[in-house]
Amino acid sequence: MHELTRWLSGATDPRTFPYPAVLGEFHRVGKHFADKGFLALLDEARARAAGATASTGGDPARLLRDFLDVALDKWDGRYDYRSYLALRLLRLPCGADAPPPAEDATARQARDRLLVRLVADALAFELAAVANATGLLPQQRPGPAVVAKRCRLGVRAVSPALARLGLASPADGGEPATAAALCAVAGDLDPAGDLPLRLSLLPVHVTHDEYLFIRVLQAYECLFAGIADELGAAVAALTGHAPRAAAGRLGYARDLLGTASPLFSLLATMQAESFRTFRRYTEGASAIQSRSYKLVESLCRTPDEDRLDSVAYRSVPEVRDRVRAGQPTVDEAYRSAVRDGRLDNPDRELVARRMAAFGGTLLQWRRTHYQVATRMLGPRPGTGYTEGTPYLAAVLTTPVFTAAAPDPRPIDPSGGNAA
Ligand code: HEM
Repeated sequence: MHELTRWLSGATDPRTFPYPAVLGEFHRVGKHFADKGFLALLDEARARAAGATASTGGDPARLLRDFLDVALDKWDGRYDYRSYLALRLLRLPCGADAPPPAEDATARQARDRLLVRLVADALAFELAAVANATGLLPQQRPGPAVVAKRCRLGVRAVSPALARLGLASPADGGEPATAAALCAVAGDLDPAGDLPLRLSLLPVHVTHDEYLFIRVLQAYECLFAGIADELGAAVAALTGHAPRAAAGRLGYARDLLGTASPLFSLLATMQAESFRTFRRYTEGASAIQSRSYKLVESLCRTPDEDRLDSVAYRSVPEVRDRVRAGQPTVDEAYRSAVRDGRLDNPDRELVARRMAAFGGTLLQWRRTHYQVATRMLGPRPGTGYTEGTPYLAAVLTTPVFTAAAPDPRPIDPSGGNAA
């Protein structure tokens, strides 16, 4: 690790940290197998960078701190879902210190850009691997037919986000060509974010499909964070006597989740054998620790006491605290508006319809998740200290809202892609 020792013996300026060499070392063996001597050097780098941070400050110092936080999670014994997915590097909410949502249009666009870049990056890796143009994660590579399918599903999953950004989906020129065009579009979306994006991919092993797994999970984290913002705004709108605005927020949240459903079809192309290989080293990192997902759930309706008291919410203590502190919900805001006679009939029906549509989409998400998890995991336990799919089966039909009435139009579980 010449580059790192050289950096340590110099001015330890965060701007000159040897990211490519350090990343290359992690990628060579997988984070779980990183050499202890190498990790000790990084630990030293972290101590030195903490000193340098005070003098230099700014983005390079923060980037280095966040990267080392993610890179040293196993070494520190802090490894979990949030550090596995490097949420901090992607500026996605990952703890109690999450910033309040930015202004709507800006936050929505930033999330759409991130979603597109994450998926495009996964496809770029698939294209490079199938062309033998990269040595990264060489084990259990899929064949060209699977790669073509991944390209098709990935492009489909981000087309709505591209449309929201005012960008055309790449013209269909056959799967790999279309995906390559998407990668070109994504490359221009946030050049300053390229380094953090690259740093946010630290697989625990060297199995090819772990790349896809990480990027799809990150993409869903990006979506859930956006949905939580929309639901929070819906609560505020309902409380502030603006039912149409609330309906708009609920509709937007539903579209975010519903139109991205090809993401799960994309994940379902993962080879179960590959998944079982790398998950041996992800123990302790489970999406049961997803702050954004639990925020979505608890902003819809206050969870029942037994759920709040279970591993589900004990895995996200800061969300549990918010609920215990009386976090307002869409369900309660709607019911109190109805109770107080603040909604005329058309508005009441409109909001109820939008709640039902969002609830139906979330239930569908759970069903698809359950199906994919069952196929990949079989009877094995989860990595989040549950018995695995029996846990998922038990929460499958937990009501999203208590208040909304009409049954929504069912969503196609394959995201319109049965092939
Ligand atoms: C190979 C694919 C997947 C498998 C095998 C799987 C498996 C599981 C299992 C077994 C659990 C229960 C907790 C545990 O012990 O780990 C769980 C929970 C969860 N998973 Fe997945 N999962 C997969 C993909 C995903 C994806 C792509 C997401 C998107 C973010 C996701 C989100 C969640 C969430 C939010 C929970 C918590 C649900 C709750 O507490 O009610 N999972 N998953």
